[in-house]
Amino acid sequence: MAPSALPRVVATRRLPGTALDRLAAASDLWVWPERGPIPRPALTEQVGAAEGLLCTGVDPVDAALLGAAPALRAISSYSVGLDNIDLAGCARRGLPVGHTPDVLTESTADIAFGLLLAGARRFKEGLDLVRRGWDYWYPEMLLGEDVHSSTIGIVGLGRIGTAVARRAAGFGMRILYHDRNRRPEAEARLGAAFRATLPALLAESDHVVLTLPLTPETYHLIGATALAAMKPTATLVNAARGPLVDPDALARALRAGTIAAAALDVTEPEPLPPDHSLVGLPNCTILPHLGSASRSTRIAMADLAVANLLAGLAGDPLPAPAPSPSPQTR
Ligand code: 8YV
Repeated sequence: MAPSALPRVVATRRLPGTALDRLAAASDLWVWPERGPIPRPALTEQVGAAEGLLCTGVDPVDAALLGAAPALRAISSYSVGLDNIDLAGCARRGLPVGHTPDVLTESTADIAFGLLLAGARRFKEGLDLVRRGWDYWYPEMLLGEDVHSSTIGIVGLGRIGTAVARRAAGFGMRILYHDRNRRPEAEARLGAAFRATLPALLAESDHVVLTLPLTPETYHLIGATALAAMKPTATLVNAARGPLVDPDALARALRAGTIAAAALDVTEPEPLPPDHSLVGLPNCTILPHLGSASRSTRIAMADLAVANLLAGLAGDPLPAPAPSPSPQTR
């Protein structure tokens, strides 16, 4: 049989919705058929002849994989975060990389805010108590900290951080943020106040929400020193990437009462082994990376990921190109 004239494309997962059908009509598409991650040797073999790669945020697309994919002309990640991809290596090769911003912003902010409520108001302990069986109500039972009218400290006021800030405004919260850049629009529209240093933000915030990208500079941004700077009544929410937080330092801080609670959508490692000390802590709520996991958002992400890949293969501008790698990571 004559080789297909259509570009060879590898997709590392099946995706919800009909986007992969459109991709299949426009390419010679191979999709990893299983629900779990594609083993690295299989991916290395598959990308050998691939012109397009549709990966997820949990597939490492590193220098070795890029080296095994000499024909690659476009990469599309089914994620907004791009810490899994060697962006500098792609830039050197002139390889366009797409991602899925905007379409997942509100769903991810919902999860972040839900985690804040769950952590500060002790949902996990309440649920555990009901599961074990509880005898009576009493006035001091499972007292938590208020979210409404408190001060939220948002680290990373990008799209998702801003969407969290909008929710916080609805809860009557005072909004502080720390970011590499001043965000004058959010300051004007939401009354968000900038704090130039992380320690200043942590010390003043009743609750802290992480919505910043993982880079070499932000790895373990929240460790023992940062946790010690937080209020003992504070909840820490991580809705971004697990390695922003040092898990051992967090477990120690939660046990010692350095902070009141943590509520995490992401962890290091991911998945966290069930016997990890964080999992058993009553004041640590952990979700299995559900930030964007609503039906309509995951379909919209698939549509955008496929649109990115098709544009890249056609040599057209991507609807949602990756930001260029920072000079530090280049
Ligand atoms: C994805 C995410 O579910 O978009 C991101 O960066 O973290 C999530 O929306 C995950 O990365 C799998 O692709």
